[in-house]
Amino acid sequence: MTKPPVAVLLLAATLSQASTKAAETPEQQAAAAAVGREIFQDTRFSNPVGQSCMSCHVPQSAFADSKALSTGAVHGREGRRNATSLMYAALIPNFSQEDILEETGEQIWVWQGGLFQDGSSRTLYEQVKRPFFDHAEMNVCSPADLAAKLRAAPYARRLRGDLSDEDWANDGNVNQRCYRALVEFLKEPMFRPFDARIDDYLAGSPDALSEAEKRGLEIFKTKAKCADCHLLIPGAWPKPLLSDYGYDNLGAPSHGPKDPGLGGHTGVAEEMGRFRAPTLRNVSLTAPYLHNGSIATLREVVEFYNKRDEEPGRWGKTDFPETVNHEDSGKLGLTDQEIDDLVALMDAFTDRSLLEMRKANAPFPVAPSATPDSWKMRAYFPDWNHAVPPLPPLPARPYPPTPPYHSPNETP
Ligand code: HEC
Ligand code: HEC
Repeated sequence: MTKPPVAVLLLAATLSQASTKAAETPEQQAAAAAVGREIFQDTRFSNPVGQSCMSCHVPQSAFADSKALSTGAVHGREGRRNATSLMYAALIPNFSQEDILEETGEQIWVWQGGLFQDGSSRTLYEQVKRPFFDHAEMNVCSPADLAAKLRAAPYARRLRGDLSDEDWANDGNVNQRCYRALVEFLKEPMFRPFDARIDDYLAGSPDALSEAEKRGLEIFKTKAKCADCHLLIPGAWPKPLLSDYGYDNLGAPSHGPKDPGLGGHTGVAEEMGRFRAPTLRNVSLTAPYLHNGSIATLREVVEFYNKRDEEPGRWGKTDFPETVNHEDSGKLGLTDQEIDDLVALMDAFTDRSLLEMRKANAPFPVAPSATPDSWKMRAYFPDWNHAVPPLPPLPARPYPPTPPYHSPNETP
């Protein structure tokens, strides 16, 4: 995408001044991000205490969880999905519909973006509230409980900023500052370094990839069709994110309770079992794979794409067989060598700053110094104008409503 015109940048600045969610100046944005960093690691919120965001989003695993399903603060409670990497999460577009022109000339509308693998949070701001109150995650009793703990935190003064006594006494305001701080933290350069070997290669350094990886890249773009969904070209962000953030049902092996994904909240029959395509950035560090952690290694994921339909016995049952995408996957006819090359290629998607952090045993990665700060990139972030895309009218639900994954008492 080309740079947004100046008018758009000005509008972004005006709107963010008017919004309580946004950080208003570069200094306020940086201060909010710094407080967000502390909240992210704070284990005092959960009930019982001891769990923070970082318990499930582990920096060493590219801020994902090496457990297939994360365990909650309450002993014995388990979520139903694999924790995603938080690298590049602040760049995921808001949940919206996009019109696509099919080869047949037919215009169709498809869902795109949104947070959580089913897109059930329309924006990142909406998303960061949920882990606090989810009974299978941090299990905070109430918004009042969260606000009380924030007021007692060592960083409370910085969180409060310029809020008056009256505003600081209001739980909603205090919690809003916390959510905003987390959003600003997740926008920090360390979560978007774009310093993997694939970036060097795409920027014109042919030696950045090995011969096997170059062969893998060719297959990724052609025979295996991976790049149709895991895009190598920039979209709304000026660098490639290796995802189109569209929704598909790959037929992941069943694991845990039946999970309707996108269809669970849109109620559309064809959308049952569909999940958002993830970025493949840092995918070598985020095993196990798929929304339910049902596949252990990258080689097996590629074998699954290659022969899902030819070896159904190997993969077992899937939750929604009737909506599986058989057009783009399941019978690719890849040779063993081609599979090896694809797996090799995915290693080139790992950010150097994460590898360096792991080597140095450092707590967090450090992005290359040339990475632009959040203020400079403000018009590119999905939250730049805080506009939540309107939802079109949804059809009547053909399936009985599914129990909510997240707690019903998640008041903002
Ligand atoms: C008990 C483990 C656990 C804790 C604690 C936790 N998360 Fe998560 N997180 C998950 C899981 C599992 C998912 C994927 C759920 C899904 O897709 O439905 C997730 C998803 C996310 C996503 C969405 C990423 C995407 O690709 O859509 C964000 C952002 C996120 N978490 C941020 C946080 C923040 C911020 C905190 C702390 C306030 C936190 N998480 C605490 C397990 C956890
Ligand atoms: C039609 C779109 C589409 C195509 C084509 C596609 N993918 Fe995916 N990919 C997805 C979706 C959707 C998911 C998430 C599915 C789920 O969690 O159930 C996914 C998940 C993955 C994952 C797991 C990532 C994680 O963090 O769990 C890997 C690895 C992957 N794809 C690699 C590939 C490779 C390699 C190819 C080419 C052989 C490919 N994909 C082709 C849409 C696609």
